[in-house]
Amino acid sequence: MRGLSGKRVIVTGGGSGIGRAVCERFGEEGAEVAVFDLNEEGAQETARIIQGSGGKAQAFKADITDRGQVDKAVAEFEAGGPIDVLVNNAGWDEIKPFLDTDAGLWKKVIDINLYGNRSFQGVPVSACLIRRVVAGSGPPRPSTAGDLPTARGRSCG
Ligand SMILES: NC(=O)c1ccc[n+]([C@@H]2O[C@H](COP(=O)([O-])OP(=O)(O)OC[C@H]3O[C@@H](n4cnc5c(N)ncnc54)[C@H](O)[C@@H]3O)[C@@H](O)[C@H]2O)c1
Repeated sequence: MRGLSGKRVIVTGGGSGIGRAVCERFGEEGAEVAVFDLNEEGAQETARIIQGSGGKAQAFKADITDRGQVDKAVAEFEAGGPIDVLVNNAGWDEIKPFLDTDAGLWKKVIDINLYGNRSFQGVPVSACLIRRVVAGSGPPRPSTAGDLPTARGRSCG
C-alpha cells in the first residue's frame, strides 16, 4: 500500500475488526479516510485512532442496506473532494447450524452481504475493492469480481 497519500477513501464497516485495520493502514499512508459503519461509536473510535496518529479521518453513520443513509454520507464526504477508493468491507453473519436457521436470518445475511454493496452503485469513485477474506490468509483482497475491469477502468463494477 504505497502512493496513497492524499487519496480519499471510503471503508464500509470501518468501525471494528478488519475494516478498522484497513482504515488505520490507509491513514498511515496519508490517505483521508471516511469510516462508514452502522455502529456510529465504532466509526468514531476508528476516526479518533487515525487522528491520534496524525492522520485524517471522518466518521459516518451509514447502514449499507439503506441507500438513503449511504447517499447522504457519500455526499458529505464528497463535498470535501473527489473519492478515490471504495472498500466494500462491511458484512455480517451469525454462525449457527443450518437446521437452526430461519428465513429472517437468511434475509439479513443476503441483505447486508449481497445487496448492501448495491447501495454504492453509481457512486463516483476511481477504484473499488470488495471484501473477500479467507480466514487465516491475511488481509482482505479483491474478489474475482473485483479483478474484472470495467469500462471506467475500475474494479468490482
Ligand atoms: N473475520 C473473518 O474471519 C472473516 C472471514 C470471511 C469474511 N469476513 C468478512 O470480512 C468483513 C469484516 O469482517 P470482520 O471480522 O472485521 O467483522 P466485524 O464484525 O468485526 O466488522 C464488521 C463491521 O461491519 C459493520 N457492519 C455490519 N453490518 C453493517 C451494515 N449493514 N452497514 C454498515 N456497517 C455494517 C459492523 O458494525 C462492524 O463494524 C465482513 O464482511 C466479514 O463478513 C471475515
